[in-house]
Amino acid sequence: MMVEKMIPVAALTRQIRIAPSILGGDQGNLASAVKIAVAGKADQIHLDVIDGHFAPNITFGPGTVKALRKITDLKFDTHLMISEPEMYVDKFLDAGSDLLTFHAEVLNGERFDALYSKIHARGKVIGLALKPATEMAPWVEQRLDKLDTLIVMTVNPGFSGQTMNMAVMPKLEKITMMLNDKGLPVDIEIDGGVEPETIGEVVLRGGNVLVAGAGVYYKPDPVTAIGVLREKAAKAISTGVP
Ligand code: DX5
Ligand code: ZN
Repeated sequence: MMVEKMIPVAALTRQIRIAPSILGGDQGNLASAVKIAVAGKADQIHLDVIDGHFAPNITFGPGTVKALRKITDLKFDTHLMISEPEMYVDKFLDAGSDLLTFHAEVLNGERFDALYSKIHARGKVIGLALKPATEMAPWVEQRLDKLDTLIVMTVNPGFSGQTMNMAVMPKLEKITMMLNDKGLPVDIEIDGGVEPETIGEVVLRGGNVLVAGAGVYYKPDPVTAIGVLREKAAKAISTGVP
């Protein structure tokens, strides 16, 4: 198994960050979901924007992000699961998103380049996301140095509370090795089914930003759950056991 070989490299180069996904929180009280993340000392807040077209759910838009921005200065990691992202980029930047992540499935190199220029001109950063079945296209590989974050989805986009798809692990290992070989400090964000039982599997394969919806908000004590995930990740890295 490749995992053992990868531990030292993965552990040395990237800082573990816990990113609660408020899609797993009380949808009638998203402010409380953000406050829970702050109280649990999360590193960033993961905001899932879904348009009912790219993925089968409808969530929230820039107005909600703007309202939530008043609560905290934590990094707003905005995961755009939408078919026409160009239409909304300015609105999410105005609303206070720090990182805008786009799905590779809806873009190409040229469109990415335009988005990159626009976002960086405003002092913000860009990411790309891959659905579980999506392999890295050549245009993505050619632009890895432009990314703040690469989201490796471990569930199909749409809903919180799904089980992590372990078939994605070989792709995650490949991505980690590629980024390490190129010496690129891109955050490798794992999105879908991150729980105390699965977090070790992904951090040992190089995942360093761990999104957790159910893994935080479905727990009896969500504030404490953030610390539990952090401890499990640290333990897996120090022992080499997932
Ligand atoms: C799925 C979203 C995820 C989701 C994760 O479409 O991108 O961010 O909220 O939720 P859990 O951690 O419950 O799988
Ligand atoms: Zn997400």
